[in-house]
Amino acid sequence: MFTKEVYVERRNKLKKEMNSGIGLFPANPDASFNYPANIYHYRQDSHFSYFFGINHPGFCGLIDFESGEELLFGNDYDIDDIIWMGEQPSVARQAAEVGINATLAYSELGNWISKAMQQGRVIHYLPPYRSKLMIEMGRMLGMPGHEVKAGASIPLIKAVVKLKEIKDDLEISEIEKAVDVAWLMHTTAMKMAKPGLIEQEIAGTIEGIALAHGGPVSFPVILSINGQTLHNHYHGNVLTEGRMLVVDAGAELPSLYSSDITRTIPVGGKFNARQKDIYEIVLKANMESIKATAPGLPYRDMHFVAARIIAEGLKSVGLMKGNTDDAVAAGAHTLFFPHGLGHMLGMDVHDMEGLGENHVGYDEETKRSDQFGTAYLRMGKRLKAGMVMTNEPGIYFIPALIDKFRNEKKFMDFVNYDKVEQFKDFGGIRIEDDILVTEQGHRILGRPIPKTVAEVEATASEQRDWLKIKGVY
Ligand code: GLY
Repeated sequence: MFTKEVYVERRNKLKKEMNSGIGLFPANPDASFNYPANIYHYRQDSHFSYFFGINHPGFCGLIDFESGEELLFGNDYDIDDIIWMGEQPSVARQAAEVGINATLAYSELGNWISKAMQQGRVIHYLPPYRSKLMIEMGRMLGMPGHEVKAGASIPLIKAVVKLKEIKDDLEISEIEKAVDVAWLMHTTAMKMAKPGLIEQEIAGTIEGIALAHGGPVSFPVILSINGQTLHNHYHGNVLTEGRMLVVDAGAELPSLYSSDITRTIPVGGKFNARQKDIYEIVLKANMESIKATAPGLPYRDMHFVAARIIAEGLKSVGLMKGNTDDAVAAGAHTLFFPHGLGHMLGMDVHDMEGLGENHVGYDEETKRSDQFGTAYLRMGKRLKAGMVMTNEPGIYFIPALIDKFRNEKKFMDFVNYDKVEQFKDFGGIRIEDDILVTEQGHRILGRPIPKTVAEVEATASEQRDWLKIKGVY
């Protein structure tokens, strides 16, 4: 948790953006795993945490945007709770730690809201994503739970995006720490990627590294020798020589700030010639689109820097053909790169995505493309200094997509399908870094994680040495 001044300032900034109504910010409830008392590791709602800092369920923050009044609703624990949970700070003390002086019992919240609504006050809230909360909010707001999400406040969403998309030094330092944990996760995966291991042995080890640094992973680990499946959460394959392992994983800190890094590792430590050719193309797409990253430019432009390098590179190895600009304009590269270059990163790994991707990554000026592949670009709008973006180009050989496009005779002028057929057993390659947009351009965050062919091969050739890893802690 940061100092109380941080939260006071964040709420004051929000009050400047919102000049009427009342903002309602519920904390996340607990979520049950397999029976009510057996709960998942508690994860606070990122927006509640951003403005109110407290990492517990059972709270709701209110801000009156007209009077400036702030209120925290919550219940003090009684002896029955304390027996199981240990001594707990009072609601008043927790409120004071984030700069709030007024508290009420949680049971008062429903009445408080009904009274405000009877007085004609508008209640602004962000879209809830947990059904338990939708039901609870529906009860308080007097509407069916399933309608609550649709009633979320667009002005509040826009105000929150405006504040949270620019990260201050404190936040950047947290994200860098999360990248440093990812450094250990990824270099460990590189050292473990030996023939005979099962993917889950590596996935479990790197998830353990995140836990050992105080937080969970920032999203379920993506780790597979079948890297052509973009988000492959199956970890049951045995690693074999000649395959590559895609590892897309990051850590979340107790402050909830996160990292999101991808590396692709040759099993056994050496890329073969075919793998190296494709790897170098993805690496160039990653490095050149990072180099082009600067405030004032639309992120969609960086996406197309990467797309053109991918098309040009695939031409150089005979997988694509024709004029590169025409191929990219037609979308032929999307057979191999069917996703966007990246997304905002912050307290959520896809920062603020629950507020609606179009509110976060697009605006009045930049509208989402409807072209296959490019439409998946989560962020298209202009960059500003202080934004943190992922940069994650990839090349994938997805047999079902190759068959589909070939059967539909798509991009026949740009794709050498006969040669592509020979790559159906290739898998995929993705390389991802976390990038801060600065006034001058950009900065890659955190401790550099091996990325060039030589760096990855050197690390992957090392033995996993727990004593050495421990020395890094
Ligand atoms: N790296 C995982 C994701 O972007 O969804």
